[in-house]
Amino acid sequence: MIGLWRMILVTGGAGFIGSHLVDLLIKEGFKVRVVDNFHPQVHPEKPSYLNPEAEYVEGDVRDRRLMESILEGVEGIFHFASRVGVGQSMYEIEDYVDANLRGTGVLLDLLANTPHKVRKLIVASSMSIYGEGAYRCKNCGVVYPERRNEEDLEKGVWEVKCPNCGEFLTPIPTPEDKPLYSSSIYAQTKKYQEEMCLLIGKTYGIPVVSLRFFNVFGSRQSLSNPYTGVVAIFLSRILSGNPPVIFEDGNQTRDFIHVKDVVYGCYLALMKEEANYEIINLGRGEGVKIKDISSILQTLLKREVGEEITGRYRKGDVRHCFADITKLKEKLGFTPKITLEEGMEELLPWMEKEKVRDYFARVLKEMEERGLVK
Ligand SMILES: NC(=O)c1ccc[n+]([C@@H]2O[C@H](COP(=O)([O-])OP(=O)(O)OC[C@H]3O[C@@H](n4cnc5c(N)ncnc54)[C@H](O)[C@@H]3O)[C@@H](O)[C@H]2O)c1
Ligand SMILES: [Zn+2]
Repeated sequence: MIGLWRMILVTGGAGFIGSHLVDLLIKEGFKVRVVDNFHPQVHPEKPSYLNPEAEYVEGDVRDRRLMESILEGVEGIFHFASRVGVGQSMYEIEDYVDANLRGTGVLLDLLANTPHKVRKLIVASSMSIYGEGAYRCKNCGVVYPERRNEEDLEKGVWEVKCPNCGEFLTPIPTPEDKPLYSSSIYAQTKKYQEEMCLLIGKTYGIPVVSLRFFNVFGSRQSLSNPYTGVVAIFLSRILSGNPPVIFEDGNQTRDFIHVKDVVYGCYLALMKEEANYEIINLGRGEGVKIKDISSILQTLLKREVGEEITGRYRKGDVRHCFADITKLKEKLGFTPKITLEEGMEELLPWMEKEKVRDYFARVLKEMEERGLVK
């Protein structure tokens, strides 16, 4: 454990994950400063959950002068500010690159060139940088396939085939050292954010930890942002009386981790020196089928709207990816505990209070017009 921390800066700390982290840090007795530009797509109005004990600076991480002034007194940084829509990043390319990479560039440039007291930088990376997860082939052992071929997808052959022998593969937990095959501009920017932070950290002796978040769910996930995670999108559909729309056949899997587990992992990454300069998966280590998410939510909400399983696909979607959490257990001594059902108990009361709007049709149309959904 490291000694006392005076001030922690959370970039993007008004967002979904950042705001839960701010609450935890305040509860643990830290002084917390937030910089957030309150992006209108994420925050059509000021969020009601901002923590009165934290200091909020409204501004952009790309604003060098502002960033220089708010680094005053800061000893630890969580860098969460990012544009976060995977699909949207495929057509708002310049803005995603600018916000995510130049934003990180400004922060690192200040750490390299100005006097400061920063002793740790934790960057929010993402499972999206893996592309397909790890798999086992019964003939070839562990393999790391790249994206599925378009011919198979057009025929509705969804499962992943071995790149060596063509046999269908079985998904296994994805470790941090799997080669990275990002399949969106968003994922590319997350990969470079991570690498840039680690490189500058190692160069200047500032401990950096990169946490690869898997699919995070929980209260405060922006419902006005149509590009957020599948849990929020399905909930919006169900609460609006519409069936969730499922691509492929619904048997694709993701690793869902509750936001409270994520922010506890973030807190441990700050506190534990064992985490320094490490890249660590932050998932539950369990793959859940997308169609099961839909039925679990309907059972919990006591609403039966069914599913619309389209047999269509989104370009660049991966079939299976769930975390190998060996390193999380080793370096942070942490095993996420909150199940999907338990997490819903925190999420649902909040959902029911929010104004729910179903943006799905609009986003689908945008993606279709650009040929991103087949
Ligand atoms: N939610 C997930 O499942 C998930 C998964 C993997 C990684 N992540 C990463 O976790 C971090 C937090 O994501 P989230 O889900 O809380 O998203 P979010 O959109 O709720 O939060 C991001 C916050 O950053 C702010 N922001 C965006 N651009 C900014 C800029 N240029 N300057 C200042 N503030 C800016 C937004 O206003 C928002 O409050 C991101 O880095 C994201 O890439 C999230
Ligand atoms: Zn094989």
